[in-house]
Amino acid sequence: MPPPEVLATLHAQAFDHPWSAAEFTALLDSPGAFAIAQEEGFVLARAIAGEAEIITLAVAPAARRQGLATRLMEQAVVRAIALGAEAMFLEVAEDNHAAARLYAGLGFEIAGRRVGYYRRTDSPPIDALVMRLSLNR
Ligand SMILES: CC(C)(COP(=O)(O)OP(=O)(O)OC[C@H]1O[C@@H](n2cnc3c(N)ncnc32)[C@H](O)[C@@H]1OP(=O)(O)O)[C@@H](O)C(=O)NCCC(=O)NCCS
Repeated sequence: MPPPEVLATLHAQAFDHPWSAAEFTALLDSPGAFAIAQEEGFVLARAIAGEAEIITLAVAPAARRQGLATRLMEQAVVRAIALGAEAMFLEVAEDNHAAARLYAGLGFEIAGRRVGYYRRTDSPPIDALVMRLSLNR
């Protein structure tokens, strides 16, 4: 497992509300959790009872648009299948077009919507799109 401090540093470069190293430690210790990390980015996921979930995905700004997130996600899919998952789920903010395009390109499809899922300090809450990828291929 990558050091939680490394994940927290990368996460802080990608999100307005960064998660602490202690939070990453707890997440990494939770059942079925796994992380795939490289120097410039990581994906944190878990696979339990036949279902996988992307918990978070971050790539450092200077390393974007070079296919890193795609490679990380593809590796997460391989790991999830090895752990027995038959489908992978994730939530993405409705206005996060970069991530939504990334996921659509990987074959994820919109499976639902969580109204007001993301609370923001300076703007109204925004819906999350639930996306699903079948791993039965
Ligand atoms: C979303 C994120 C992980 C993408 O990482 P990345 O390494 O740049 O992604 P990739 O290079 O693998 O991009 C794959 C495809 O996704 C889409 N995409 C990625 N970034 C995009 C952008 N800024 N605008 C439009 N499309 C984008 C494109 O279709 C891209 O393919 P292309 O470069 O051939 O056009 C990165 O921008 C990031 O960390 N953002 C902040 C955190 C975040 O939103 N995480 C996901 C939360 S659900």
